[in-house]
Amino acid sequence: MRSSYYPTSSCSWADSSSARRSSLEGHAWVAQLVEQLIRNEQVRGSNPLPGSTGRRSRVRFEISLVCGMDVDRYTHGHHDSVLRGHRWRTADNSAAYLLPHLVPGQTLLDVGCGPGTITADFARRLAPGPVLGVDRSSDIVDAASSDFPPEHWPSLRFRAEDVYALSLSDETVDVVHAHQVLQHLTDPVAALREMRRVTRAGGLLAVRDADYAAFLWAPRDPWLDRWMRIYHEITRRNGAECDGGRFLPAWVARAGWSDLRVSSSTWTFQTSEDREWWAGQWADRVRYSSFADQALEYEVATVADLEEMARAFRRWQDAPGALFVLTHVEVLARNPG
Ligand SMILES: C[S@@+](CC[C@H](N)C(=O)[O-])C[C@H]1O[C@@H](n2cnc3c(N)ncnc32)[C@H](O)[C@@H]1O
Repeated sequence: MRSSYYPTSSCSWADSSSARRSSLEGHAWVAQLVEQLIRNEQVRGSNPLPGSTGRRSRVRFEISLVCGMDVDRYTHGHHDSVLRGHRWRTADNSAAYLLPHLVPGQTLLDVGCGPGTITADFARRLAPGPVLGVDRSSDIVDAASSDFPPEHWPSLRFRAEDVYALSLSDETVDVVHAHQVLQHLTDPVAALREMRRVTRAGGLLAVRDADYAAFLWAPRDPWLDRWMRIYHEITRRNGAECDGGRFLPAWVARAGWSDLRVSSSTWTFQTSEDREWWAGQWADRVRYSSFADQALEYEVATVADLEEMARAFRRWQDAPGALFVLTHVEVLARNPG
């Protein structure tokens, strides 16, 4: 069956040798510096810089060399407690809004693929169409490649890449997907523009992000409220928008995508099995993952606070009538070319 909304085209992966990688793109001060450098260059009348993403990528790359640092900071990190949560994800529980539009043979890029469980589901559905998962963390890319090795997954590959400067040539893929990624970026619109660059004219974008402020739970617990406030504070300091779900349609439109279809969906944790899994995961995350490191570094919580939050998740797990609902917004859109 072909998707009537988004027709397919055949294509294969091709690297753009001049594409540059840098996560510096997002920060406001970097953006200002980049614009200033570009203006200076124009004043001097120098030749255009090479690279499919043009002068900005090149300039950002130069700045990253000078600074020797990554500006974007991923809040969760890849501690085992985080990966337990991410590995639970499937195309069915995390990308249902996209599935009716997928057709075998399509080419798909999964940006910020993490451990790759959703990516592998796409590969299963689209085979023999090639599926590529990219993530800025080479450790998680190595883990995904070993969990889904090429000998068993001939149409699936993983690579370490930064969404701000993908290595793919212009207009390469039929579908570009990102799940729970844009909320972590300092410049989601720049990322969406880069995703559009590598998508063929008429190709499909599928993005889904949580909106933390729209999470709800019962029973109430002041330490879970505190957890939510601290999470907001950490992501704010990282220059990210953890209530990203509500802004997704605006970001997508600003990046030049058209024909938006916006929907929302939830994950609901209520059964005893769900509660044990969700509470156990977060009881560990608040103590051992990057959340804990950053909470302490930013001095928004003490070790005792983190222990108290872990206990609050365990209290929630055992409470009569316990419920946790996570709200997500999802957007499908088309590259007008
Ligand atoms: C919340 S995880 C989502 C993983 C996967 N999409 C899923 O839903 O299971 C976000 C992922 O985005 C990756 N990421 C963050 N910034 C990135 C960037 N600039 N370029 C590519 N990946 C990035 C992180 O390393 C992390 O693996």
